[in-house]
Amino acid sequence: MSSSVHGFTVTPSASPRPEAERTEILRHLNFGKEFTDHMAGATWSKEQGWHNRRVEAYGPLQLEPASAVLHYAQEIFEGLKAYRWQDGSVWLFRPEQNAERFQRSAARIALPELSVEDFLGSIEALLSVDGAWVPGADESSLYLRPFMFASEAFLGVRPAAVVEYLLISGPVGPYFPGGVKPVSIWVAQGFHRAGPGGTGAAKFGGNYAASLLPQQQAFERGCQQVLFTDAATGMYLEELGGMNIFVVRKDGTLETPRLTGTILEGITRESVITLLEEDSVKIVEKNISLAEVRDGVESGDIAEVFACGTAAVVTPIGRFASPDFDVTVGDGTAGEVTLNIRKRLTDIQYGRAEDPYGWMRRVEASS
Ligand code: PLP
Ligand code: COI
Repeated sequence: MSSSVHGFTVTPSASPRPEAERTEILRHLNFGKEFTDHMAGATWSKEQGWHNRRVEAYGPLQLEPASAVLHYAQEIFEGLKAYRWQDGSVWLFRPEQNAERFQRSAARIALPELSVEDFLGSIEALLSVDGAWVPGADESSLYLRPFMFASEAFLGVRPAAVVEYLLISGPVGPYFPGGVKPVSIWVAQGFHRAGPGGTGAAKFGGNYAASLLPQQQAFERGCQQVLFTDAATGMYLEELGGMNIFVVRKDGTLETPRLTGTILEGITRESVITLLEEDSVKIVEKNISLAEVRDGVESGDIAEVFACGTAAVVTPIGRFASPDFDVTVGDGTAGEVTLNIRKRLTDIQYGRAEDPYGWMRRVEASS
């Protein structure tokens, strides 16, 4: 029996996982391995615009081998989380920001814009059937992955005339196994994530494909993430493969690379800046050179470094390695400023602290 939620026709799965199986999955959470019983979607065509808004059973897609996305990578995505509060209610963190960034990414990759209303509606429609998948354990959440791709079967190189929007979700624990432990960073050598005029500010799948080889090289050197410098000079920090970066000076000043059009405009980054400004912490958005970070870490002038993003939340960085240097930040453990900002943010996300900015948005979730 179908129903309609925010214009999405919801057809419940004929074979949702039994409660006992779901409970067992929610007990052992990693990142990105488990998915809920349903997915939301909508189709766009040049003639009809957005239509076929739906929620249906999660499952394999039927895609023509000639679908443009498989050849020219015309694909974008988003990442946000649904949090379960102590009282059982379910909340999203600044989802309008993700909706707007999805529109900016779409514009850059010549995909059609999805309205903020449809973006939020798809999440609410999905949670109207998969709400029980939002975990309640500490540091856990339901990761939501909206994405859009060129499904038109056509090999000419031009923006696709048929496009799919899909939203899948899965319960997650920490992105880095081992909880809030400092991670090691490898400085990408000879590879850049994005260049001036490129796609760096879009959440475009190809950016992540380009990061995989340097990311693999990071793993080979015992590092969990790769740091990219700017393509024009190779001198300045940009961001990690999937998160933004902050440096904490000994005098309490924070610095983060300024937005140059090649960096993803992280919603966590912007939230961290807002929270720190409220505390009257001096925060500077500027070009930060790699040499300055190496020297500052070596001399102790840089006391802490952390990464932030939806998946990573706020993660301490304990070490920087490259062929030329290998430096430990502070004593290699998580610093006070990092842990404090992580707590400020997660307290709001999990409803443990007031939300003076109106960042949280409640959603009706099935139980
Ligand atoms: N930078 C990159 C390349 C990312 O993939 C992400 C994750 O979404 C971020 C930064 C952080 O963005 P946000 O805080 O909006 O999740
Ligand atoms: C996120 O934080 O949501 C990301 O997209 C980062 C990574 C998992 C791709």
